[in-house]
Amino acid sequence: MCLLVVVGVLAVANERVDSQSFPPGFQFGAATSAYQIEGGWNASDKGESIWDRMVHSRPDFIDDRSNADVACDSYNLWEEDLRLVQEMGLDFYRFSISWPRLLPHGFSNKISEDGRRYYNAVIDGLRARGVAPVVTLYHWDLPQRLQDLGGWTNPLIVEWFADYARVAFTLFADRVSTWITINEPGSVCDGGYRGLLAPGVRDREIGALLCTKHVLLAHARAYRVYQEEFKAKYLGELSIANQESWYEPKTDQDMEITLLAREYSFGRYSHPIYSAAGGWPPALERYMADNSKKEGYPRSRLPAFTQDEIQLVKGSFDFYGLNHYTSRVVRAAAPGESLSRRAGVAAEELGAALETRPHWKTAASSWLKVNPEGLRNLLKLIKQQYGDVKILITENGYSDTGHQLDDHDRINYYKDYLEQVLLAVTEDAVRVVGYTAWSLLDNFEWTSGYTSRFGLYSVDFTSPMRPRAARASARYYTSVVRARALRVTRVADTHNATA
Ligand code: NOJ
Repeated sequence: MCLLVVVGVLAVANERVDSQSFPPGFQFGAATSAYQIEGGWNASDKGESIWDRMVHSRPDFIDDRSNADVACDSYNLWEEDLRLVQEMGLDFYRFSISWPRLLPHGFSNKISEDGRRYYNAVIDGLRARGVAPVVTLYHWDLPQRLQDLGGWTNPLIVEWFADYARVAFTLFADRVSTWITINEPGSVCDGGYRGLLAPGVRDREIGALLCTKHVLLAHARAYRVYQEEFKAKYLGELSIANQESWYEPKTDQDMEITLLAREYSFGRYSHPIYSAAGGWPPALERYMADNSKKEGYPRSRLPAFTQDEIQLVKGSFDFYGLNHYTSRVVRAAAPGESLSRRAGVAAEELGAALETRPHWKTAASSWLKVNPEGLRNLLKLIKQQYGDVKILITENGYSDTGHQLDDHDRINYYKDYLEQVLLAVTEDAVRVVGYTAWSLLDNFEWTSGYTSRFGLYSVDFTSPMRPRAARASARYYTSVVRARALRVTRVADTHNATA
């Protein structure tokens, strides 16, 4: 085990430096996703995804008009990525399978030999380096053909996804024991159907909510396929990765709207799976039914679950997968106040204004405001709402513009957020079992293109070789992973790095 070494001067009079250990067995990893890193968008027999279609047909959708046709070229340079993963001493690497690379037509009648070869190589390569693969089945790159058939608004997608999951389990479950079915269903539905992400459809009132129901059923069907056909043999664990920000009320009077905003933004994706009763969060279900009635709809826009569906989804998890980045302050909007589409999903539906505090630093991504305590609060809330569930933090990270390797702001972000994870574990007895840094390397940040970078390793996208270089944060994270402990600097932020 490597000793912690303090880099820089920490000689501030009233400062205390504590070294705190993560509990035994705590796992550290880093993550990427297929569309964001692979490139090879039409290599071999790969099918077109909704992101391929979006970047090629509507280049204005992306801030810098870029695309991920090549991205980090991980389709060819995957061994280089695995070298970085090994260099950091990570316990696991979370990556995703591209549905249209494995099933070029979207359906399970034709499996791509090349897709199978590629993911086998990555999985075997990780295992040979002593790193566990954590595999996401769906990280937003739906086969375009399925989108043409209605995508996540078509109820048939539930079985199409289960078919795809069965193929992936059949091919890889002998060597993969942790699976994420769907990454950020909220982004898939509320981003994809409020025109903010591919497929770029604007139908918040109906489309996004149909998607919500189907994405949950699809997750649950994939979970049951694994339970019934693979679990006894491979003993793996599955969950979904929900994106949750911490929401706190602006004043005491804003508590009710804050509770509803939490239920609308992420309770919608977690209550059906993790609560004892299952189904939609009751307060939200009532609100949506009333709203829909007032709007003249014959039934609630939030599609009802049947009793069978409630049972199918309820309990479809082995751990709680949490993507977390940021916090918001919630208040009820003033009458007539206009709320922008980008103000957050709860804005338009609930009339909730989502604000931030002036002292929360902003990352390169305008939505990413730094409030480390939000993570601890959220972890406590999950435990309070859903019981003593095992929680795997499936993403957490910080963006900058990527021009420097000396990324102290990112180091501070990781240090401060990891400290809150430790406090949740040690002070609040929340069962956090692992932590995933987003991201291993700079990559295509969806509609931001390459304007904001999350990488522990930088990638030079101007060079055909796509060279990777370690940032200071990669060295910092490596030191935490190797020590299994965090060196915490208390009192004023000295802007000194600890390594
Ligand atoms: C969540 C998504 O899963 C990932 O794809 C994205 O790059 C990060 N957040 C940062 O925005």
